Order: sequence, then structure tokens, then C-alpha cells
Amino acid sequence: MARILAVANQKGGVGKTTTSVNLAAALAAAKRKVLLVDLDPQGNATMASGVDKHEAKPNGCEVLLDEAAIGDVLVRTEAGFDLLPGNGDLTAAELKLMDGLAREHRLKEQLAKISDKYHTILIDCPPSLHLLTLNALTAADGVLIPVQCEYFALEGLSSLLDTISAVRQRLNPKLEVEGLLRTMYDVRNNLGNEVSAQLTQHFGDKVLRSIIPRNVRLAEAPSHGQPIHLYDRGSRGAIAYIGLAGEIIRRERAMSTHDAGELTNDLDEAAPDASGATPTTP
Ligand SMILES: Nc1ncnc2c1ncn2[C@@H]1O[C@H](COP(=O)(O)OP(=O)(O)OP(=O)(O)O)[C@@H](O)[C@H]1O
Ligand SMILES: [Mg+2]
Repeated sequence: MARILAVANQKGGVGKTTTSVNLAAALAAAKRKVLLVDLDPQGNATMASGVDKHEAKPNGCEVLLDEAAIGDVLVRTEAGFDLLPGNGDLTAAELKLMDGLAREHRLKEQLAKISDKYHTILIDCPPSLHLLTLNALTAADGVLIPVQCEYFALEGLSSLLDTISAVRQRLNPKLEVEGLLRTMYDVRNNLGNEVSAQLTQHFGDKVLRSIIPRNVRLAEAPSHGQPIHLYDRGSRGAIAYIGLAGEIIRRERAMSTHDAGELTNDLDEAAPDASGATPTTP
């Protein structure tokens, strides 16, 4: 089963798409099987992955409406990850879903069909907390929240966190905050340090260690339809996203060791006298 991460922040232009595409590519370069879902009607992740959003038909819209089989819609990208493309049709899907049954669960149901083929599924969310984002949060195990190291960075974070709590209570009890990712960090600017300090003060170890610097190569890469490691693998941006991929993989490993430990404990408690043998810890 894949681990599913929604990349979400209703604030626009904070680096959700840049993070989704470049993290997908960096994880794929580390030999992970990755699916990137473009859930934003802007279709930016689709274009930045080298797929023309205007030609992407069927796409996530038909998948959400159950009009196409998800396996038939996926596209293999040059960077080695699979993409569920998205474009303006997603707005129509969102409108049609409004009246539908189990409308927040559509993406979760579709991803369940292919989840065993991947290690990680990333979902690039639109800058809103409406139904498309709710579908992402209902499907996800964790939320990765890019935060731009600029003025007003924390603005809107409380409504995002409230939405995450509400989704956890009503739709998806396993949902966790994977972490807050500092993006567009500028070393020449004190503001980055101030925002960083505020984030750590409020969110402690939920702030990821990796920091994405402001780097012009990251801004250029999408217009070439390439993730950063294909466009300029030696750039600071590319190195930062490789670091982030490493951090995410380490966290996954730590979690699975923890889960395996819990499982051993559960087995231990369920059958304390089964054989008298001490269970082996993996
Ligand atoms: N680290 C960075 N350094 C320089 N430019 C960046 C960086 N990250 C993102 N950008 C640029 O900033 C703009 C916004 O980034 P991006 O599209 O990733 O944000 P977003 O949160 O997905 O936006 P939206 O809310 O519209 O979906 C883009 O032009 C992108 O190329
Ligand atoms: Mg975006």
C-alpha cells in the first residue's frame, strides 16, 4: 500500500506545485515508485511534468466521476514517475460532485485500486479548501504544507489546520500533518529567519528540517516541462529537493519500524502464552 501525501495550503503561490513535482521526481530518482496526482484545475503540475494539459483527456475529472478507469488515465513522465493529469475539467468534476453521494471519498476510492503499485502517492492540491482539496485530505495519510518564507506566511494556516482536524474527525481519522516545509527561503533576507523562528515556535518538530531556497532554476524548470533534476541537477533547488526526498523516506522508515514494533506488541498482548517464545523484534 502506498503512503499518500496531500501537498496542501489554500494560500496561493506558496510552492505546492513546485514541491509536488520536484519531490515526485526526487523520490523516483531514489528508485521509489511514485504517482503524482494533479488535482488542481490550473494543471500546473501536469505541465511542469512535461505533459500537455490541453491534450490530457481523459484526466482526473473522468476518474473522479467514475467515467474512466484510473489505470487507463495514468501517464509515465520523463522523470520516471506516473502522473494522473489534471486541467480545467476538474472544475466541472468538482461542480458535478457537489450533489453526489460520498462526494469527499471519490479520490480515495479510485486510488485504492492502484495503491499497491506505488510506494508514495503525492497529490498537488488547488489553492482552496473546497471539495477537490477535501477529496485529497480524505484520501491522504499525511499533509505536507509548504509555507513561503515571506510576510503573512502564517496567515491562513489556522484555517488549514482547522480543516485538517475536521477531516480527521468526520472523514479520515488517520490523517496527520506530515510536516511544514519552508519554501522560497532567501538567505540574504532576515525575513526568512524570522518566519522560520515563528514556525518553529508554533509548530515545533512538525517543521521539516529540509528548507527549499529561493532559486531561479526552480522557477524556470516548469516552462521546460521538466522537474529540476532534469533541468539543472546541480542547482541549489535540485539539491534541496533531493534532501527533502531523503527526509521523507527516513520518516517513512522510522514510522514502519514503529508500526512493526507496535504490531509485535499487539501480537504479544494477543497471545502472551502461545508458545512461551519471546517474539523477535524486526
Ligand atoms: N523555491 C523557489 N524558488 C524560486 N521560485 C519558486 C520557488 N518555488 C516556487 N517558485 C515559483 O513561485 C511560483 C509559485 O509556485 P507554485 O506554483 O509551486 O506555487 P503553488 O502553491 O502551487 O501555487 P498555486 O496556489 O497557484 O497552485 C511559481 O512561479 C514557481 O515557479
Ligand atoms: Mg499549484
